[in-house]
Amino acid sequence: MERAKAAHRQENSQGFVDPDILAKIRVGKAYVAAKYGFRNHWYPAFFSHELPENGFMTAQLLGEKILLKRIDGKVYAIRDQCLHRGVPLSRKPECYTRDTISCWYHGFTYRFSDGLLCDIVGADESAVIGKKRIKTYPVEEAKGLVFVFVGDVDYPVPPLAHDVPPKFLDADMAIRGQKRTVNANWRIGAENGFDSTHIFIHKNSILISDNDLALPLGLLPKGRFAFEKLEEVDGPKGVFDNFGPDVIKPIFTGTVEGEKVLEGTPHGRNMLPHNISMWLPCALRVDPWPDPSLTQFEWYVPIDGKQHIYIQTLGRRVANEGEEKQFAMEFERRWRPVALDGFNNDDVWAREATEDFYADDKGWLKEQLFEPDGNIIEWRKLASKHNRGIQGPEHIG
Ligand code: FES
Ligand SMILES: [Fe+2]
Repeated sequence: MERAKAAHRQENSQGFVDPDILAKIRVGKAYVAAKYGFRNHWYPAFFSHELPENGFMTAQLLGEKILLKRIDGKVYAIRDQCLHRGVPLSRKPECYTRDTISCWYHGFTYRFSDGLLCDIVGADESAVIGKKRIKTYPVEEAKGLVFVFVGDVDYPVPPLAHDVPPKFLDADMAIRGQKRTVNANWRIGAENGFDSTHIFIHKNSILISDNDLALPLGLLPKGRFAFEKLEEVDGPKGVFDNFGPDVIKPIFTGTVEGEKVLEGTPHGRNMLPHNISMWLPCALRVDPWPDPSLTQFEWYVPIDGKQHIYIQTLGRRVANEGEEKQFAMEFERRWRPVALDGFNNDDVWAREATEDFYADDKGWLKEQLFEPDGNIIEWRKLASKHNRGIQGPEHIG
């Protein structure tokens, strides 16, 4: 027992959750354990345009270092770690044929398609040739994003549609976006996005005047029925906030001890959004937002225990190429600077300021939640129930 604890403490040097803390978690234990994310799910890693034909990209997802290459239009992904002495192949990618990569150190050569050690450049009679494989990852491209399935080699890969918010893959949904690295655990990102009263931090955002928003200072649920879950066996799993007037009360006046100290913007033309929802493995949908014609889809993809890739996208339904071009122009001119930067910079700042409290995982025990955090609790429960596995130290290295 003592030896097992000592071993786990050693693993914790990489930042995994202490079992003594986990033992005390009453709600959402698997979620708290998933500091490095949930295994056997699809994750967006970057945008398609970042990886040209014959080009390479590296990505670190859930602590796993991955090397990607586009060959004849299709993206392949392998573990970025040579089987021989463990060096990153990406340090100096050497490809002598289009669909293989040779390690720069001693020539071990792997096929991108199935990871087979198909040759060793300077030792072609070695007995290990044809007998070993480097790990490969399923890849799919959709809506201009490259998605990677991070999980066990023999896990039956589910459709991408099960791991993205509903509407995202709709044929008429045009998507534009950007990504950045945030210095906070992925769950701090998810809970910032889904948190209904964090709207307080946006009260001075440039977006409010730019788009004439009626933005309250807080949104108070009137009971448990303010949240809904979608848990179909063959579909995405998520939790909804419903912002109907019967279930959520917007608060426009801020008071301290009875004295009015702040006012939201109750007279704005656009009262948005109508619902916010959080989806496994780590995606948020804000609908509509930041304009009645747009929906925001974003992901908080675990890099390791301390950082996430913040992938922000906006979607608009378009009827033809002309409308899509118009949206692309509008995105660059207006929505990227005002919404994805201007508005969401507040969120990035808030997440990085929250990270310290949860970094040693004691924050999960010390936090003092209040009524509007009910949706966050529902999300923790749903994620604990429906995830397909927890990333652990044995998966990284
Ligand atoms: S470390 Fe890669 S071939 Fe030796
Ligand atoms: Fe926000």
